[in-house]
Amino acid sequence: MNELVDYLRSRRSSLAMTLVEPAPSEAEIQILIEIASRVPDHKKLQPWRFVEYGNEARVELVKKFQQLSDEEAGSSPLEKRQVELERFLSAPLVIGVISKTIENSAVPDYEQVLSAGAATMLMLVACNAMGYEAQWLTGWFTRSRKATELLGLNKGEQIAGMVHIGSNHIAKTDRTRPEISDIFSKF
Ligand SMILES: Cc1cc2nc3c(=O)[nH]c(=O)nc-3n(C[C@H](O)[C@H](O)[C@H](O)COP(=O)(O)O)c2cc1C
Repeated sequence: MNELVDYLRSRRSSLAMTLVEPAPSEAEIQILIEIASRVPDHKKLQPWRFVEYGNEARVELVKKFQQLSDEEAGSSPLEKRQVELERFLSAPLVIGVISKTIENSAVPDYEQVLSAGAATMLMLVACNAMGYEAQWLTGWFTRSRKATELLGLNKGEQIAGMVHIGSNHIAKTDRTRPEISDIFSKF
């Protein structure tokens, strides 16, 4: 076993609300995107793209999200919606991974969405590899049609994840993990 295996066996996210500066530099963000785009991608469709939501942009977006009607915001209770908006503002860096389904492709939509999920996961791991902490979040505004329009999504696109990135020095405890015997079998 080596260090990479040890890391993968104990990997954990950090809570977005605990993330502070430093965050990845411009040059490091380029490397994060480069790594995240090295995912398995059936027929090389690149069914994903990445958007950095800057601090000021997020403040403006949240103001607009707060003006959306209950119907446009979906079914979550107002209090929960507010917590999710505060969380969107909390980390020093947020990169949205956008799943972009290519129509009329021989590759089923769900395989394309899986590739976007894999890109999000790889970004989380890359953040840790570069010494940063991260959390993969979504929230009502990543699913509301009006809100996703404000986030710049086009037709056929959806948010795979908002990767909240920064630093902290908080010791991480593990959460409950499945028993291998419950999730693995031989056929
Ligand atoms: C697609 C997706 C969306 C998620 N959205 C949220 C969310 O909105 N709120 C939340 O608290 N956790 C959400 N999570 C879970 C967090 O990423 C959580 O930090 C993680 O499961 C903690 O586990 P880990 O330490 O093993 O990474 C989401 C996970 C995935 C895969």
